Amino acid sequence: MRSDTFYLPTRIRTGKGAFESLGTILASCGRRGLLVCGQHAVRSGLVNRARSLAQGHDVGLGLYVRAGREPDLAMVAEALKFARDGNCDVIVGLGGGSAMDLAKAVAGLAHLEGAPGEYFSGRAIDGPSLPLVTIPTTAGTGAEVTKNAVLIDRDSRVKHSIRDDQWFPRWAVVDPELSLDMPPGVTASSGSDALCQAIEAYTSIGATPLTDGLAERAIALIGRSLHRTYVSGDDIDAREDMAYGSLLAGMAMSNARLGAVHGMAHPLGVRYDLAHGVVCGLLLPYTMDYNAPETPKYARVAQLLGVATPGMSDKELRRAAVEHVRGLLHAIGIPEQLGPLGVRDEDLDDIVQASLPSGSLKHNPRPLHAHDVRRILESAL
Ligand SMILES: [Fe+2]
Repeated sequence: MRSDTFYLPTRIRTGKGAFESLGTILASCGRRGLLVCGQHAVRSGLVNRARSLAQGHDVGLGLYVRAGREPDLAMVAEALKFARDGNCDVIVGLGGGSAMDLAKAVAGLAHLEGAPGEYFSGRAIDGPSLPLVTIPTTAGTGAEVTKNAVLIDRDSRVKHSIRDDQWFPRWAVVDPELSLDMPPGVTASSGSDALCQAIEAYTSIGATPLTDGLAERAIALIGRSLHRTYVSGDDIDAREDMAYGSLLAGMAMSNARLGAVHGMAHPLGVRYDLAHGVVCGLLLPYTMDYNAPETPKYARVAQLLGVATPGMSDKELRRAAVEHVRGLLHAIGIPEQLGPLGVRDEDLDDIVQASLPSGSLKHNPRPLHAHDVRRILESAL
């Protein structure tokens, strides 16, 4: 086996009620915070709760509320100005992956010179990040424990990550109670992302026994509770499974990387303005179909999903995994075809070309050439 390094410096506070520790955690990081979140966190009262917890420990929290889109370079520049004007010494990302990734970029760039676009284009990160505290309110992206911020350059219509080891959050606060009021549609799309990330991290060519342990548990937890959270949003046990599942998938993927679904999802998402989790869920069964002949681990995925029965051949187990994933995503309302979402056959060559440089694509268990990517996209059209 090749040698590898597992790195995850984030302290992780988990469980029901973990959010109540926010004041203590913030006080260990700084005195002047900037809270980055979306509109929902304001409306639900979560922002007020965060501010009063911070205040109880003499930490002030400024506020940057992002507009309802995935973060782009202009948004990063605007939020950065808030952080610098407030002389902030700690950044908090509260919400889904978009809020956490935006906060991560702000924390990471606060001390650096130059525009966000320069770092997006590959300029080296040459200074430390501000302390970052991530608080997921969805169960999906795992962004609470990753070192990358997925951003969009709307001019060039490119979506990819800035990543650096210094960008890992100082703290992640993962409290399943914060996800109780997530509506079914968001539960489905974020949960599809978590399922996809668990399976892609597990089968990535960058997987190791260390990441396998995390990914296997993630697949089992998400597999048993994704549908339950979709139909019964107030089921706290199922919400807890999903909170741990998406966290474990994030821990696995931050070291193992992902696969072809994520390679294709970014160009599709930015071009057609599609929610990341929806695209991932849509593409996952088609990509698993492609991978199955060269991905022995799918047999284990069938066991983890509870669909293996005695006497099944290896081939039947792999097929059972693919079909169960397809059925689960259908049951939670994930669309099954790209065409009705506006994707056109004449655009596919562009999507293929934009997918090929992706690091995720290169970590797919079955190698892909341009014609393979096109074949998967055509089958999903
Ligand atoms: Fe994802």
